[in-house]
Amino acid sequence: MDAAEIMVRALQYGAGLIGLGLLAATLWAGEAPGRASRQVLAACCGLLAASSLANGLIFSYLVLDSWREVFTSDGLLFILSTFEPAWGFVGRAALAAAALIALLSVRGKAGAWIAMSLLAAAISTFAWTGHAASGEGWQGGLHKVSTITHIIAAAVWLGSLGLFLSRLLSPEGAASEYRQRTARLLLRFSGLGSMTVSVLVVTGAVNAVLIAGPGNVISTLETGYGGWLMVKLALFAGMLGVAALNRFILAPALAERLTDQAAHRMRLAVMVEVILGAGVVACVSVLGVTSPHPG
Ligand code: HEM
Repeated sequence: MDAAEIMVRALQYGAGLIGLGLLAATLWAGEAPGRASRQVLAACCGLLAASSLANGLIFSYLVLDSWREVFTSDGLLFILSTFEPAWGFVGRAALAAAALIALLSVRGKAGAWIAMSLLAAAISTFAWTGHAASGEGWQGGLHKVSTITHIIAAAVWLGSLGLFLSRLLSPEGAASEYRQRTARLLLRFSGLGSMTVSVLVVTGAVNAVLIAGPGNVISTLETGYGGWLMVKLALFAGMLGVAALNRFILAPALAERLTDQAAHRMRLAVMVEVILGAGVVACVSVLGVTSPHPG
């Protein structure tokens, strides 16, 4: 069942982070999502709603230890009345469905803003279905705020990569005017990019200390949990390296030369960053169901 739980967590993170991030990046670029983006966004909302419900059912099964019980009203009532995380899954599914309706029914930037707000609320519910859910008192509150801030920063980075890749892969991409606009967008992102990285590092460190316990960080690094966190940080370091290459070398070269070769190199680098980002999300999907305490 662990594999199924890890899979549905990965689907939720993937759909939620890309959906929210793509909307945020598109609005940050001063635009409304075009037809192709709207289809991708609608798919993200639908997948987030479905995988959140699936995660809720798996959670209920792990508690009740019987699928037959899960699908009885007594079973579901027991889960909803006893376990806070169950509301996290239901709330996430409902908010993702509402974002889908907003995207399909309200056109232009207005629809995008409504959907983005609903998706931000949807992925904030992860703070009630992961390790942050078990925190109590002020530490519990700090952990939830840190987790929500962390996930939104993660969405901004991964979603922006989605926007840049869609621009670099666009059939219009060969036109120099379009290529110039894409290069300007990449250069403009550097300020927001640096801020996103700082927020990820600070909130990530806070998450790690609160999950391990202030005196146990080193011993936690020696566990399976610590191993996955190390893999995640290595992938993150790789993303940072590629992001620096994009910012200081490839994007200025594209803006200056506008050649096919410069565009090709930029496209390749953004694809590498996306693949490393997918690896980070895969690690997080395992981390959330792995105990940080040895033995
Ligand atoms: C591109 C970079 C990153 C992305 C996309 C990312 C994404 C995420 C996501 C989606 C979560 C799940 C939160 C939850 O459901 O509770 C998470 C948790 C976490 N992140 Fe990151 N993160 C990134 C960078 C970092 C960095 C730099 C650090 C450390 C300094 C870090 C440390 C953590 C920790 C400790 C957790 C809690 C994991 C758990 O649930 O046990 N992350 N991250």
